[in-house]
Amino acid sequence: MELLKQRILKDGHVKAGNVLKVDNFLNHQMDVALFAEIGKEFKRRFAGCGVTKILTIEASGIGIACLTAEQFGVPVVFAKKSQSRNIDGEVFTTRVESFTHGRVYDIIVSKKFLSPGDRVLLIDDFLAKGSALNGLCQLVEDSGATLVGAGIVIEKGFQEGGELIRGRGVRVESLAIVDAMDPETGSVTFRD
Ligand code: G4P
Ligand code: NA
Ligand code: NA
Repeated sequence: MELLKQRILKDGHVKAGNVLKVDNFLNHQMDVALFAEIGKEFKRRFAGCGVTKILTIEASGIGIACLTAEQFGVPVVFAKKSQSRNIDGEVFTTRVESFTHGRVYDIIVSKKFLSPGDRVLLIDDFLAKGSALNGLCQLVEDSGATLVGAGIVIEKGFQEGGELIRGRGVRVESLAIVDAMDPETGSVTFRD
């Protein structure tokens, strides 16, 4: 998506440790007009897939998911992160080990909001090592719902998440795939 790539080049900053800082428009301050265009692009790519629900994870996936859901005319459900194991049986839950942040947490969705009849589109801002997205795939599988695919704003193509999730047989559509970043020069290289 050209508009997004241009925005990354204009406002993104390459940090040490392979981190792309985009907090000026994506995951701290949010450019809602850009989000609306992103929502339209996901609608274009997943049109005709019969999506009934958007699933994301708190926190920074939620804004993108909402503007995407507006295009599809369906609700958004966000998985909650929890430090404590929830064992009351009313939730779908799985464990996520974040390598980026070096922590382990459970993600939780109430059983009320995912059903076997649902056709679910996953949405997230970043795909890096894929731990969070992999957890979302697991929740959908556990619910018996159909996973239509995953829409990602920025995929870091040099990390293993894309391969991991596509290897599960999931259709992943990333609007910008970063193949290389250089903290010295600040350069960002996109795939094709
Ligand atoms: P992981 O296995 O290393 O944890 O990789 P994963 O793809 O699950 O990403 C972990 C978290 O790090 C995610 O946010 C993701 O959005 C964020 N992230 C990964 N790489 C980058 C990057 O280059 N730039 C920025 N800005 N974020 C990145 P999170 O902490 O789980 O949640 P939240 O930020 O949505 O609250
Ligand atoms: Na994030
Ligand atoms: Na995220």
